[in-house]
Order: sequence, then structure tokens, then C-alpha cells
Amino acid sequence: MSGNAQRPRRINSLNELYHFLSIPLVATFTLNKRYIHSEYKLTWLKRFRLVFKLWRNTRRIETGTSYKAQAAIAAKLFEIPKSVPGVVVECGCWKGGSTSNLSVICKIAGRTLIVYDSFEGLPEAEINDRYATPGTKGAFMGTLDEVRGNVARFGFVDVVEFRKGWFNETLPKHAEKVVLICADVDFQASLHDVVINLWPHLYEQGYFFTDEYMLLDYCGMFWSESFWKKYFDCGPPGLVGSGSGVGVGQYFLGPFDWTVDPTSIAYTRKDFSGHWNFDKDS
Ligand SMILES: C[S@@+](CC[C@H](N)C(=O)[O-])C[C@H]1O[C@@H](n2cnc3c(N)ncnc32)[C@H](O)[C@@H]1O
Repeated sequence: MSGNAQRPRRINSLNELYHFLSIPLVATFTLNKRYIHSEYKLTWLKRFRLVFKLWRNTRRIETGTSYKAQAAIAAKLFEIPKSVPGVVVECGCWKGGSTSNLSVICKIAGRTLIVYDSFEGLPEAEINDRYATPGTKGAFMGTLDEVRGNVARFGFVDVVEFRKGWFNETLPKHAEKVVLICADVDFQASLHDVVINLWPHLYEQGYFFTDEYMLLDYCGMFWSESFWKKYFDCGPPGLVGSGSGVGVGQYFLGPFDWTVDPTSIAYTRKDFSGHWNFDKDS
């Protein structure tokens, strides 16, 4: 583990200061929803501690997911009563920054977190995958030991199960019911494997989160009538936050500003509908 991953970085920009100062606001607004189940007993202090920990971890381990996005994921997980069986699944963990935070959230929720990754970085590019280029193979690599070490140090490794391998080999063997999925997998081919294999295991009111909310064509999978008809014989579920992410307090005029630091997330639910069914001429 690098020294970098052990000590929080200093706040050295206005942007970072803004995120730090937002901690009480995120604890107050993102995690103070009417629909959060009372059995989680989220007092103000508990919410503040959780959000602070999420923020601190994103500064200790290099990660592509913001603490604000993770607080939004927590809010949705805490909506689901404990009596609903199912695990949380993360696909794509890099160095384990997002994994550490998800493990903290799962510990509170009393859920197991299953983590799928190659632990060798991104795979070989597939033909026609708009986001895969030969140069990206192996990018975002964190070894299993590195990820496990980070989670043990900054999260709760006792709630995590790691499943190493390429998604097209590991995910077809997935058997557990799932209440929430976090996919941060970059390539279209990888997202395809995640959705095809895990969607059938998702609880009816369970959530599917994707980190690639800024890419309109990537989000297009969740609006594609042909994709959902072909693989699931149903209409598309849609994707809340397509193009801009869900409102977690960031300032962002997108979707084509690549200098923005990603602070949001997008999600859908199995029982959502993104299907246009009105035909004026019929
Ligand atoms: C952008 S990184 C994940 C970042 C992480 N969620 C975070 O916020 O720190 C993408 C991850 O997806 C994994 N990945 C992508 N496609 C994969 C595939 N087909 N099979 C296995 N792992 C894959 C890579 O190994 C990498 O760890």
C-alpha cells in the first residue's frame, strides 16, 4: 500500500474545500429522507459520522466515486427493509476506494457485499465498444491483496466477499438475490455482461447504480427498447440522472465538460419504466 493510501490528502483547492464543507449538508439532506427505513436508526450523529467517513476514505484511497454519490447509494439501500433478503454487488472496484465505502454502508445495513473484478484492470477491447480502445487494457488495476488491504484498513472486510475474474466468466455463476448493484465498469461490453447476468437476480424494488452517468450514449442502454425487448422481453427501465447525475449538490453543466470532477451517480430500479407508450395516431 502506498503512503498515499494511508494518510488523507490535504485540502488544496477550492473545489475540495467545497466538498469538505458540504459534509453536514449531505448528512442533513441526502440521508434525511422520509423513505429511509426507521429500523436503521439513523440519528443525525450517525449520519454525520457516516458521511464524514465516506468523505475521508475518498481522500485516503484513489477512487473514481465521490462520497456524495456514495451517500446517495446509502440512502437508497436504507430504503429497503432488513427483512428483504439479498446482497449488495459491486462490479468494478479499482483500488477498493468505492468498496471500502460500500462496506461501511453494508455494515450498517447488515448486508453482505460481493465484489466482482478482474483485479487485473480493464479487459481487452471488444470490437464496436465505443469506450474500449487497445490502450486502455489493464487500466484501473488494483490487485486483490491491495484492495483487500484497503478495505481491511478503511472499511469492514468481514462483510465483503471478493470474486476474481472477467465478468463474462464470473457473473453467469452468480446465484444470490441482490438488493442493490453498483456498476463502475467503463466499457460497454462490461456493462452488457453486468446487466445481462445480474438483472434477473435483482429484487423488484432493488436499485442498479451506474457511475457512467455523463455519457448519454452509454446511459442509452437503459432507454433502449430493442435491448430490453431482446434480452428481457420487457420495456426499458430508464435511468434517473442520465447525462447529469442525480442531484447531490454539485455544479455541473454537462454532459461534455470533461474537466469536471465526477461527484454524482445515476440509478434505475427494476420496477421503473422508461418506455414511451403514447401514440397519437393509434
Ligand atoms: C473505473 S474502475 C472502478 C473504479 C471504482 N469503482 C472506484 O470508484 O474507485 C473499473 C473497474 O472495472 C473492472 N472491470 C471492467 N471491466 C471488467 C470485466 N469485463 N471483467 C472484470 N473486471 C472489469 C476493472 O478491473 C476496474 O477495476
